[in-house]
Amino acid sequence: MKIKVNSLDETKKLAYAFASSIDSKGKFITLTGDIGAGKTQFIRYVLEFLNVKDKVTSPSFVILNEYKSDLCPIYHFDLYRLEEKGLKSIISELREYSKEGNLTFIEWAEFAHDEIPKDAFKINVYYDEDNVDIRWFEFIEDKNNQEFIKNLSKKVIK
Ligand SMILES: Nc1ncnc2c1ncn2[C@@H]1O[C@H](COP(=O)(O)OP(=O)(O)OP(=O)(O)O)[C@@H](O)[C@H]1O
Ligand SMILES: [Mg+2]
Repeated sequence: MKIKVNSLDETKKLAYAFASSIDSKGKFITLTGDIGAGKTQFIRYVLEFLNVKDKVTSPSFVILNEYKSDLCPIYHFDLYRLEEKGLKSIISELREYSKEGNLTFIEWAEFAHDEIPKDAFKINVYYDEDNVDIRWFEFIEDKNNQEFIKNLSKKVIK
Protein backbone atom coordinates (compact mmCIF):
# COMPACT_ATOMS: atom_id res chain seq x y z
CA MET A 1 0.00 0.00 0.00
CA LYS A 2 1.35 3.42 -0.99
CA ILE A 3 0.17 6.56 0.76
CA LYS A 4 0.86 10.00 -0.69
CA VAL A 5 1.77 12.60 1.91
CA ASN A 6 1.54 16.29 0.99
CA SER A 7 2.45 17.93 4.27
CA LEU A 8 3.72 17.42 7.80
CA ASP A 9 0.12 17.37 8.94
CA GLU A 10 -0.62 14.46 6.63
CA THR A 11 2.43 12.62 7.98
CA LYS A 12 0.97 13.17 11.44
CA LYS A 13 -2.44 11.79 10.44
CA LEU A 14 -0.82 8.74 8.87
CA ALA A 15 1.42 8.15 11.89
CA TYR A 16 -1.51 8.53 14.30
CA ALA A 17 -3.58 6.02 12.30
CA PHE A 18 -0.62 3.64 12.28
CA ALA A 19 -0.01 4.05 16.02
CA SER A 20 -3.68 3.51 16.84
CA SER A 21 -3.46 0.09 15.15
CA ILE A 22 -0.58 -1.14 17.31
CA ASP A 23 -1.36 -3.23 20.39
CA SER A 24 0.71 -4.40 23.36
CA LYS A 25 2.30 -7.13 21.25
CA GLY A 26 4.29 -4.31 19.69
CA LYS A 27 5.89 -4.51 16.27
CA PHE A 28 9.29 -4.60 14.62
CA ILE A 29 9.35 -1.93 11.94
CA THR A 30 12.05 -1.05 9.43
CA LEU A 31 12.18 2.31 7.70
CA THR A 32 14.22 2.71 4.54
CA GLY A 33 14.25 5.20 1.70
CA ASP A 34 15.50 8.64 0.70
CA ILE A 35 17.61 10.85 2.97
CA GLY A 36 15.41 13.37 4.73
CA ALA A 37 12.16 11.94 3.36
CA GLY A 38 10.50 11.89 6.80
CA LYS A 39 11.32 8.63 8.59
CA THR A 40 12.20 10.23 11.93
CA GLN A 41 9.24 12.56 11.72
CA PHE A 42 6.87 9.63 11.24
CA ILE A 43 8.34 7.86 14.30
CA ARG A 44 8.11 11.08 16.30
CA TYR A 45 4.36 11.31 15.61
CA VAL A 46 3.80 7.64 16.44
CA LEU A 47 5.45 8.22 19.82
CA GLU A 48 3.44 11.40 20.32
CA PHE A 49 0.22 9.44 19.79
CA LEU A 50 1.42 6.85 22.30
CA ASN A 51 2.01 9.59 24.87
CA VAL A 52 5.75 9.16 25.12
CA LYS A 53 6.99 12.15 27.01
CA ASP A 54 10.71 12.20 26.19
CA LYS A 55 11.77 14.17 23.19
CA VAL A 56 12.46 12.08 20.11
CA THR A 57 15.49 13.41 18.28
CA SER A 58 17.18 12.34 15.08
CA PRO A 59 20.54 11.80 16.71
CA SER A 60 23.68 11.99 14.62
CA PHE A 61 25.69 9.71 16.81
CA VAL A 62 23.21 8.08 19.11
CA ILE A 63 22.23 4.82 17.51
CA LEU A 64 19.65 3.59 19.97
CA ASN A 65 17.02 5.46 21.95
CA GLU A 66 14.66 3.81 24.41
CA TYR A 67 11.26 5.05 25.54
CA LYS A 68 8.55 3.95 27.88
CA SER A 69 4.87 3.90 27.00
CA ASP A 70 1.72 2.47 28.52
CA LEU A 71 1.57 0.03 25.62
CA CYS A 72 5.04 -1.56 25.73
CA PRO A 73 8.72 -0.58 25.68
CA ILE A 74 9.72 1.36 22.58
CA TYR A 75 13.11 1.34 20.85
CA HIS A 76 14.37 3.49 18.03
CA PHE A 77 17.54 2.47 16.22
CA ASP A 78 19.07 4.87 13.70
CA LEU A 79 21.70 2.88 11.85
CA TYR A 80 22.83 5.65 9.49
CA ARG A 81 26.18 6.12 11.20
CA LEU A 82 26.75 2.51 11.97
CA GLU A 83 29.87 1.16 10.38
CA GLU A 84 30.39 -2.44 9.37
CA LYS A 85 32.06 -3.36 12.66
CA GLY A 86 29.60 -1.30 14.62
CA LEU A 87 26.80 -3.71 13.79
CA LYS A 88 28.30 -6.21 16.22
CA SER A 89 27.89 -3.74 19.05
CA ILE A 90 24.12 -3.61 18.68
CA ILE A 91 23.31 -7.12 17.46
CA SER A 92 22.21 -8.43 20.84
CA GLU A 93 19.84 -5.46 21.30
CA LEU A 94 18.49 -5.88 17.77
CA ARG A 95 17.70 -9.52 18.47
CA GLU A 96 16.25 -8.87 21.90
CA TYR A 97 13.99 -6.03 20.78
CA SER A 98 12.67 -7.92 17.77
CA LYS A 99 10.75 -10.13 20.17
CA GLU A 100 7.02 -9.77 20.66
CA GLY A 101 6.07 -7.21 23.31
CA ASN A 102 8.41 -4.49 22.04
CA LEU A 103 7.71 -1.69 19.60
CA THR A 104 10.94 -1.26 17.68
CA PHE A 105 11.79 1.09 14.82
CA ILE A 106 14.90 0.61 12.71
CA GLU A 107 15.79 3.64 10.65
CA TRP A 108 18.27 2.96 7.83
CA ALA A 109 17.63 -0.76 8.18
CA GLU A 110 19.61 -1.35 4.97
CA PHE A 111 22.75 -1.09 7.12
CA ALA A 112 21.79 -4.09 9.25
CA HIS A 113 21.96 -6.58 6.37
CA ASP A 114 20.85 -10.03 7.47
CA GLU A 115 20.13 -9.05 11.06
CA ILE A 116 16.62 -7.87 10.24
CA PRO A 117 13.97 -10.53 10.87
CA LYS A 118 12.34 -11.65 7.63
CA ASP A 119 8.90 -10.89 8.99
CA ALA A 120 9.72 -7.29 9.93
CA PHE A 121 7.11 -4.72 9.01
CA LYS A 122 8.71 -2.71 6.21
CA ILE A 123 8.05 0.93 5.43
CA ASN A 124 9.76 2.66 2.51
CA VAL A 125 9.69 6.46 2.53
CA TYR A 126 10.67 8.43 -0.56
CA TYR A 127 10.21 11.68 -2.43
CA ASP A 128 7.82 12.04 -5.33
CA GLU A 129 9.72 12.08 -8.65
CA ASP A 130 8.07 15.27 -9.85
CA ASN A 131 7.45 17.25 -6.68
CA VAL A 132 9.84 17.30 -3.71
CA ASP A 133 7.08 18.61 -1.44
CA ILE A 134 5.31 15.28 -1.84
CA ARG A 135 6.51 12.17 -0.05
CA TRP A 136 5.29 8.58 -0.33
CA PHE A 137 4.98 6.02 2.43
CA GLU A 138 4.97 2.52 1.06
CA PHE A 139 3.85 -0.19 3.49
CA ILE A 140 5.17 -3.47 2.15
CA GLU A 141 2.53 -6.16 2.31
CA ASP A 142 3.26 -9.76 3.17
CA LYS A 143 1.18 -12.61 4.49
CA ASN A 144 1.84 -11.65 8.13
CA ASN A 145 0.64 -8.08 7.93
CA GLN A 146 -2.19 -8.08 5.36
CA GLU A 147 -4.85 -7.62 8.02
CA PHE A 148 -2.97 -4.78 9.70
CA ILE A 149 -2.47 -2.95 6.40
CA LYS A 150 -6.09 -3.49 5.40
CA ASN A 151 -7.21 -1.89 8.68
CA LEU A 152 -4.71 0.95 8.25
CA SER A 153 -5.95 1.62 4.73
CA LYS A 154 -9.51 1.91 6.04
CA LYS A 155 -8.33 4.61 8.44
CA VAL A 156 -6.25 6.63 6.00
CA ILE A 157 -7.91 6.25 2.60
CA LYS A 158 -11.18 8.10 2.38
N1 LIG B 1 5.55 15.37 5.09
C1 LIG B 1 6.43 16.36 5.30
N2 LIG B 1 6.22 17.58 4.78
C2 LIG B 1 7.11 18.56 4.97
N3 LIG B 1 8.26 18.43 5.67
C3 LIG B 1 8.52 17.25 6.21
C4 LIG B 1 7.64 16.13 6.06
N4 LIG B 1 8.16 15.06 6.70
C5 LIG B 1 9.33 15.48 7.22
N5 LIG B 1 9.55 16.79 6.95
C6 LIG B 1 10.72 17.57 7.33
O1 LIG B 1 11.84 17.10 6.58
C7 LIG B 1 13.01 17.10 7.39
C8 LIG B 1 13.62 15.72 7.44
O2 LIG B 1 12.69 14.84 8.08
P1 LIG B 1 13.19 13.56 8.88
O3 LIG B 1 14.33 13.91 9.76
O4 LIG B 1 12.00 12.94 9.47
O5 LIG B 1 13.72 12.68 7.65
P2 LIG B 1 14.51 11.29 7.73
O6 LIG B 1 13.97 10.46 6.62
O7 LIG B 1 14.45 10.73 9.09
O8 LIG B 1 15.98 11.78 7.41
P3 LIG B 1 17.35 10.95 7.54
O9 LIG B 1 17.49 10.23 6.23
O10 LIG B 1 18.38 11.99 7.73
O11 LIG B 1 17.20 10.02 8.71
C9 LIG B 1 12.58 17.60 8.78
O12 LIG B 1 12.85 18.98 8.86
C10 LIG B 1 11.09 17.36 8.79
O13 LIG B 1 10.40 18.22 9.64
MG1 LIG C 1 16.03 10.15 10.32
